[in-house]
Amino acid sequence: MPLILQPGTTLIAATHNPGKARELVALLDGRFEIIAAGALGLPEPDETETTFTGNALLKARHAALLSGRIAIADDSGLSVAALDGSPGIFSARWAGPTKDFAAAMAKVEERLIETGSDDRSAWFTSALAVAWPDGPAVVVEGRVDGQLVFPGRGDRGFGYDPIFVPDGYSQTFGEMDPARKDALSHRARAFDKLKAALF
Ligand code: IMP
Repeated sequence: MPLILQPGTTLIAATHNPGKARELVALLDGRFEIIAAGALGLPEPDETETTFTGNALLKARHAALLSGRIAIADDSGLSVAALDGSPGIFSARWAGPTKDFAAAMAKVEERLIETGSDDRSAWFTSALAVAWPDGPAVVVEGRVDGQLVFPGRGDRGFGYDPIFVPDGYSQTFGEMDPARKDALSHRARAFDKLKAALF
């Protein structure tokens, strides 16, 4: 049987990150009622998988199982070509327990300098998973490519946004109007795939 999401369905958003929750709501166009997992007091599972899709599925399944409702989760991060894809799935962890992204961005810059490479190409990946409490699940992945700039610029985004300039633009994600970022981001591209699969 095909998996279909009816408009008006309540979805549990398995994220505790307010920046990501805001983007999820914007990208879902008000089609669904969203309850954040944090607001239900659901614990966050350990992200033990080795890929973005694996971790997105793990988080969606965990929230669906605990809440008894359909859950949506994303796992995302910044991959740097000259660092063999790091920080990748460890993007949040590079910021440490205090979520210090200034430190995480400084670490990216230091590691890049250590490589001696001039290559500043990087990409954001977003894996999105929807899981039903009785087991079925769907997962998709979107990506946006760009170049890293140091020092970072702009304070409109979150995470690594200040150091990332998407291909074809001159502003960083941190400088960009959030609506413009929402339209071209890795999460938007993953959403397009999810819509094609489920709506
Ligand atoms: P996770 O998906 O919760 O494991 O965390 C992903 C991490 O990747 C976030 O904490 C951010 O550091 C980073 N990240 C993911 N998407 C974006 C984005 O759109 N802009 C900036 N940083 C991002």
